[in-house]
Amino acid sequence: MARDVYVEPSIYARELEAIWRHDWLFVGHTVDVPRPGDYVVVELDADSVIVVRQADGSIAAFHNVCRHRGSLLVEQANGSTRSFSCPYHQWTYGIDGALRACRNMPGDLDMRPLGLRPASVRELAGLIYLSLAEAPPDFASAEQTMLPLADAQGLARAKIAAVVDYQVDANWKLIWENNRECYHCDANHPQYVQAQLDRETGLFEFPDVTGAVWCSANQTELAPGFLTESVGGARVGPLMGDGASRIGHTLRLRTLPNFWHHGSCDYAMTTRILPAGPRRTNVRVSWLVDTGADIARDLDLDELTRFWRLTSEQDWRICERQQHGVESSAYEPGPLSPSEEYNVANFISWYLRRLA
Ligand code: FES
Ligand SMILES: [Fe+2]
Repeated sequence: MARDVYVEPSIYARELEAIWRHDWLFVGHTVDVPRPGDYVVVELDADSVIVVRQADGSIAAFHNVCRHRGSLLVEQANGSTRSFSCPYHQWTYGIDGALRACRNMPGDLDMRPLGLRPASVRELAGLIYLSLAEAPPDFASAEQTMLPLADAQGLARAKIAAVVDYQVDANWKLIWENNRECYHCDANHPQYVQAQLDRETGLFEFPDVTGAVWCSANQTELAPGFLTESVGGARVGPLMGDGASRIGHTLRLRTLPNFWHHGSCDYAMTTRILPAGPRRTNVRVSWLVDTGADIARDLDLDELTRFWRLTSEQDWRICERQQHGVESSAYEPGPLSPSEEYNVANFISWYLRRLA
């Protein structure tokens, strides 16, 4: 697309409204918040949201903004608590978002309308989704598309083995466009291409040509000798979920605008992207293993994470170089390859429809 789409603050502001503060965003894993009071804080541009496990086991989300004079309430990225107390004047909220205490305020103050502002959340096969929309889009299509395949990966009962956060100096759409083609793979991903039986199978058509579908799930076969997506193909952990039936295969899940997953027989990798301005994207890559795995005894974290650290970092470098080039006064968009970049064209259709 044209240069402005990747740099202009006014276009970025429209994306925040039309896409990021509307759609279902992947924010984390069921196992990030296993017990009541466990929470994670998610930063989406200027918005900060607390995702917290409730006493009844459900999950709720609240804007991380005090209802007194607007201070951020929680500063830690995650934790476990019985209540949220504002650091400014100590107004205190329950984990259900209700205002519980506000010292030195008039005794007849009605506290009921002063609870934290809620946001919508859903859990799907161990993945937590958040929407900041007043009326969130339909979630049933994600359940229909992903649940039949995703449950077998065992994400809902997994252990988090490793998390790496990246700040990528590129527009979030360049990261998706890169993700949606493997034209670049032979020259840029020596480890990744070795593991794939057929590069094309990774390029399951997504988004669809209408741009209306926001999630997908498919399985692919790995190259002969590759039991899992590791450097060299050897197992890197105990079998995960129904892993015995998935040796030599991967499960791929994607949801627009911010999530993809590669599940192997012995581990899962999730990637979450969140924009932090037109030129900056925060990326979190997580590695999950079976709930029965002993992280100290059963895993070599370096081996577990190597394949996707290498592949991810190769991609971030590509995207940063592209951002730099696209910002040049000489840049103008060139043609896409119909055989290699059809999903880039589909992504652009999806994006333009959403922005319109
Ligand atoms: S701003 Fe939170 S208590 Fe005053
Ligand atoms: Fe790549």
